[in-house]
Amino acid sequence: MATKKFKDGEIIFREGDPSDSAFVIESGVVELTKASDNEPVQLAFLNKGEMFGEMGILDGSTRSATATAEGKVTLRVIDRETFLDRLQNEPDMALNVINKLVERLRHADDLLAQGPARAAVSQVRRDPAQAAKPGFFRRLLGMGADTNSETIEVWIANLAGEGGDERAKQLAAILDKIKGLRVRLVKQGLESDPSLPPDQRFRVLAESARQWLLKKQGDLLIWGEIPAPETTLHLRFVSAAEDKTDRPGTFTPGTVLTLPVEFPPEFGNVLAAVALAATIPANDEKTAALTQLLPEALEGAMPLVKDLPPELVSRERAAIQLCFGNALATVAVRGNSAELYQVAAQTYRSALDGLSRDADPVEWATLQKHLGSVLQVLAEKTNDPETMGAAANVFRLALEVFTEQAHPFDWASLQYRLGQVLYRLDLKTGDTGLLKEALGSFQAALHVFKREEDPARWADIMNGIAQTAQVLGRELRNVEILEKAAEACDGALEVRTKDEYPLHYAATQNNLGSALFLLGRMTEQAGYYKEAAVAFQEARDTYKEQGSDKMAAIAARNLHHVEEASPGVKASIDAQNSRPPAWFEEGDDEKP
Ligand code: CMP
Repeated sequence: MATKKFKDGEIIFREGDPSDSAFVIESGVVELTKASDNEPVQLAFLNKGEMFGEMGILDGSTRSATATAEGKVTLRVIDRETFLDRLQNEPDMALNVINKLVERLRHADDLLAQGPARAAVSQVRRDPAQAAKPGFFRRLLGMGADTNSETIEVWIANLAGEGGDERAKQLAAILDKIKGLRVRLVKQGLESDPSLPPDQRFRVLAESARQWLLKKQGDLLIWGEIPAPETTLHLRFVSAAEDKTDRPGTFTPGTVLTLPVEFPPEFGNVLAAVALAATIPANDEKTAALTQLLPEALEGAMPLVKDLPPELVSRERAAIQLCFGNALATVAVRGNSAELYQVAAQTYRSALDGLSRDADPVEWATLQKHLGSVLQVLAEKTNDPETMGAAANVFRLALEVFTEQAHPFDWASLQYRLGQVLYRLDLKTGDTGLLKEALGSFQAALHVFKREEDPARWADIMNGIAQTAQVLGRELRNVEILEKAAEACDGALEVRTKDEYPLHYAATQNNLGSALFLLGRMTEQAGYYKEAAVAFQEARDTYKEQGSDKMAAIAARNLHHVEEASPGVKASIDAQNSRPPAWFEEGDDEKP
């Protein structure tokens, strides 16, 4: 059989040309596009081993699309007679061709359902026999079978290093096959500033990539490099939308997915799961799409991650496990699933098993940080002191590597998290030493998270300081510390306004009320009680307005304590409200 070679950008055939042969790709990537009223529509990227050009032969019509070489391409050419002859005499080959056609039809149906015809198509009842059964992760999350059809737009930039443009095209061809993804290639490379230290370089580059993505209305950009000796791909993910919450499983500009350069098809599932998890949804439709797509992608990737090929070195395995752990944690956050948090923790732990602090300090510490944040959520969910202690230890380990000088952001975010778990742990154990350490951690976090640059996070930390100082002040019966707690609340409230962050506003008002109440009790100054009552009222009313009845009940109960402690305050409140506040059940007085 003849082969034909094409250069990058060369047209293999054009839409409307006569169809005289079919092709199988021996190497390289082929892009198929179809003319439309506006610009050409990208139909697909095809990769090594795939066939195209068969449609024209089958129905005797002209080419339905234009085929272009993306990079160097070698094709095996099958002439019309041979193709038809084989189709009649080789049942396996016939089945393969039919399978491919069915796959394309399905894909086209999916696309149709997203276009203007979407509304009409979604009216059509699905055949229940056809609807996929929900898989393990979907069942875990209490979800039914797939119903969504919004796509996630993924852009892939040329990877830095030898052959990086070819690899980008191969990645495109792989991801293009994944349901729910639409893939495009970025034509220009990403320029980074080599004078910056790596940490900052990736941050700056990620930010400009994000701006670019926003302009293109894409959802995710994949880029990265092929470091010498060119045996692995290092992939990085930038999402157009931002998630500043520092939730478990967050992908940062430093997060790298390492894959073998010539990776077998199963790795495509891992890549898909990680790409979807790294995408921060920009609107409700995308959230719905990701919620549908991610569990399936996790399921597809799970068998490989559980049983990674032995030829991967431990650092490569750890990178894959870290990214997959992030994907699990991301789904755990969205579905608020303790089981999935556990699986994520287990995945991070397996990754840590293969690493040592001395050989790979940054990877090791990054994994500890991720593990800690998952344990922290589990601890908050279960209120289990052992898990809290484990989270605190893991954060302390990560802080041995992430120092303020070398990794300021990781360091500060770890300090904030450590402060939070220590505070909680004290509530369980009553160990005042923990509160002092927690205060130290919060103060440390403030070195990096400044009010001007990251007001929301600054206010979170101030609120943490307020809570901790309040408990410490109460335990030590120390007026000065309690005053610090009230001051910290005032600070936090300058950012946590009622309009912008109502629930956070209410939480801090509740903390402020508690600090003032204690000050009142300790100093016996009625002014403190009055202020405390105002703060608790604000908290109660805001919680109520937000429909958070449980928290409103706690604030109301606190208000009641103030009234009992200071009858004068009660009289003035009664004068304001005709009805006295009701008595409520006790609850958790933590953050909303
Ligand atoms: P043919 O019509 O001969 O030429 C264009 C080829 O593109 C066509 O055969 C198919 O092999 C291929 N093709 C058309 N549409 C798609 C699609 N949606 N996805 C993948 N391949 C396609």
